[in-house]
Amino acid sequence: MNFDYADRIKKLPPYLFAEIEKITHEKKLLGIDIISLSIGDPDLPPPEIVINSIKKEASDKQNHNYSLSQGEPFFREAVSSWCKKRFKIDLTTDEVICLMGSKEGLVNIARAFVNSGDRVLVPDPAYPVYNNSGAILNDGISVPIPLLEENKFLPDLEKLDPKKAKIMFLNYPNNPTSAIVDKKILRQIVDFAKENNIILCYDNAYSEICFDDYKAPSILEIDGAKEVTVEFHSCSKTFNMTGDRIGFAIGNKHLLKGLAKIKSQVDSGPPVYIQKVAAIALESYKNDEFPEFLKKNNAIYSKRRDILVSSLNSIGFTCEKPKATFYVWLNCECNSLKFASKLLEGGVAVTPGIGFGKYGENYVRFSLTQPEQRIKEACNRIQYLSNKP
Ligand SMILES: Cc1ncc(COP(=O)(O)O)c(C=O)c1O
Repeated sequence: MNFDYADRIKKLPPYLFAEIEKITHEKKLLGIDIISLSIGDPDLPPPEIVINSIKKEASDKQNHNYSLSQGEPFFREAVSSWCKKRFKIDLTTDEVICLMGSKEGLVNIARAFVNSGDRVLVPDPAYPVYNNSGAILNDGISVPIPLLEENKFLPDLEKLDPKKAKIMFLNYPNNPTSAIVDKKILRQIVDFAKENNIILCYDNAYSEICFDDYKAPSILEIDGAKEVTVEFHSCSKTFNMTGDRIGFAIGNKHLLKGLAKIKSQVDSGPPVYIQKVAAIALESYKNDEFPEFLKKNNAIYSKRRDILVSSLNSIGFTCEKPKATFYVWLNCECNSLKFASKLLEGGVAVTPGIGFGKYGENYVRFSLTQPEQRIKEACNRIQYLSNKP
């Protein structure tokens, strides 16, 4: 028998990390120690408030029925009140929708609005979901928005052809480049979307992982943004709850209604107890200051960042300290797959930039999701490799 995959699956790009993953797996089987700086999954635990409320809420028998696929009213209230405290934006509960992780929302918003042949503006390099699920799996046409170092990895809107574009994805603080934006840039982005009648899907999954004096804004702080925007948030990185699958989308009511229509056909919302836990975690914000556990986590990431970036610079690379996210984006000035393979041979796994799009070539991404000692050890290994002929 021969069950052929649908054409849209055949159009998905090849999985470039397969070879690297195979080598990593083989090395681990042989007992070789690999320091993994490749995945974006925090090694830090969820805060106590999350662990304690999971125990409490999961043991409540009332919390195990189906939930509403757009989210329980108490959860949407909690999000609305968090947005008021954190970004000073006003949202009614029909301007909030609960997600089974922000990835789910990014996929389903595109499913709700992209028709076959529509153009989807996708940053490059980027989190691959925008291109693969947003454009390809909806038979859309993916148009890259090059994010170049010379533009601080921001979109050059003047060079972007908005013709027949239906949706634009953008993500700041950015994975993988760790670039950030200010409100002046957000204003230009919103104007571009409004002038060209484009749905703006703004991925703010890393809004709470910020360092030094930087604090990521919401694009909904920009006047008029709500007319064209849905912004995506995630509890995965904020509360170290990647496996608990909860996030939310906020913004334009009509766009969220489209997303809700798809969701009502394909999922039944995150478990009620997880929504209760996430609501409690969001309520730990008293104002626009990060709560204590986040301050602590961000201090840990920024210390790791300092160690990695200063080592890379002393080895001879040129690398700036990122102001947000737990990624360091290094210009390795050579083929990214070859560079990553060389590091892997020396016991350090990083992600080759080409896996994030063609403009990611010549870069690799380091994740700061290992303890300080392991990052120091990784730096020693890279130093040793760089001295080898
Ligand atoms: C930029 C970006 N957006 C969204 C997500 C998805 O997060 P989640 O689905 O866990 O909320 C990720 C995960 O790595 C990401 O890097």
